[in-house]
Amino acid sequence: MDIDAAKVQALRAGRVPIYEPGLDKLLADNAARISFSTSYDELLEESRILFVAVDTPPTPSGDADLSRVQRVVDEVAQRGGPRLVVMKSTVPVGTGERVVADLEAAGMRDITYVSNPEFLREGAAIEDFLAPDRIVIGAFREEDGDEVEALYRGVEAPIVRTSVPTAEMIKYAANAFLSTKISFINEIANVCEAVGADVREVARGMGLDHRIGPHFLNAGIGFGGSCFPKDVQALKQLAGNSGYHFQLLTAVIEVNHLQKRRVVGKLKERLGSLRGKRVALLGLTFKPHTDDLREAASIVLAARLRSEGAEVTAFDPLVPGPKHVQFPGVRLFADALGAVREADAAVLVTEWPEFATLDWKAVAGAMREPFLVDGRNFLDPAALSAAGFTYVGIGVPPVTPAPVGQAGAATLG
Ligand code: UDX
Repeated sequence: MDIDAAKVQALRAGRVPIYEPGLDKLLADNAARISFSTSYDELLEESRILFVAVDTPPTPSGDADLSRVQRVVDEVAQRGGPRLVVMKSTVPVGTGERVVADLEAAGMRDITYVSNPEFLREGAAIEDFLAPDRIVIGAFREEDGDEVEALYRGVEAPIVRTSVPTAEMIKYAANAFLSTKISFINEIANVCEAVGADVREVARGMGLDHRIGPHFLNAGIGFGGSCFPKDVQALKQLAGNSGYHFQLLTAVIEVNHLQKRRVVGKLKERLGSLRGKRVALLGLTFKPHTDDLREAASIVLAARLRSEGAEVTAFDPLVPGPKHVQFPGVRLFADALGAVREADAAVLVTEWPEFATLDWKAVAGAMREPFLVDGRNFLDPAALSAAGFTYVGIGVPPVTPAPVGQAGAATLG
């Protein structure tokens, strides 16, 4: 059930309203077992278990906005059912207890509540759902947890059974820790630039320590998306509301803001003033394999470049052009070559796989100046050098164009 009639209509017609690899096929394969509705009456009358999966965007204070959750709770309260409410939405610790209190205040006695946070990544959602690292189930009563656990029969994963507040906290703590890892490696990258070390090798050397692990150590222009930025902020706010100043998260957030802006510094270092210079952005979505632009670094970067007086062009495989409300004043092209034509610099913002196989020689030829900032350390510096580029990554030694006929890269200094 969704309040957005257009979404429901699309789903009824077998169209998935977002880009998520494999989801359209999964929907088609299971069409006989799934129905869509815009009506609370229809939904709540017929169901025994209700999964709440509404969004909880940040309010201006950084708290999570629970108005959508509240709406669902009110609708449940009005109708006296269904019996078991399972919270998938990321909600602040204490929400479960409040929801139950609200429902009881509305005179409902036999309603129960389970917290079952979701950990799936956009672009890999199906895989993460069917083969999760763990399933977290927080319940007030043992039998409710058992009922939700039974739904996952057949999915191989450790099950973490716990209290409702602990389950709520696990979700925030996991996202905050992953964000911390990213901001940490980004700061290491910034120091690497100052001292001439290579963050990719540092990350590999660190990640082989099993206590650290190799994941989420890719330095770049920072994290975006619908979860990390808002959840880190919400946890910081939750701590603050409870009287605790979460210093580490304050730094994680600030590092992430600054990381996007450092790209502008790299461009200025090379080009001087950006006024009148043409900068091409390659990739706009917050990460590949999704069409999601929420909290994408590209939005901040494009706005900063525009305010520096640069002319900004862009290409993203899933963001249609030539104009987009999120990118005022930016010209969007239908292919990478169009976006880079006559550009003074290009910035790789999203590591779409197709950028690895771009004809970089042709790109260099189309640009006014073959200068590339690789915001994701995604491309091979030696190959870019061979294609004629001056290449600057994040925390990696920059390279200059290789002399004609030579494949190797010349390190700048
Ligand atoms: C995340 C969590 O991974 C998931 O468990 C949670 O349920 C929702 O939030 P998602 O937002 O889809 O999932 O993206 P993820 O793949 O985790 O990446 C988040 C951001 O971090 C992206 O902008 C990505 O580019 C960035 N990132 C990730 C890095 O900059 N470096 C890394 O090493 C990893």
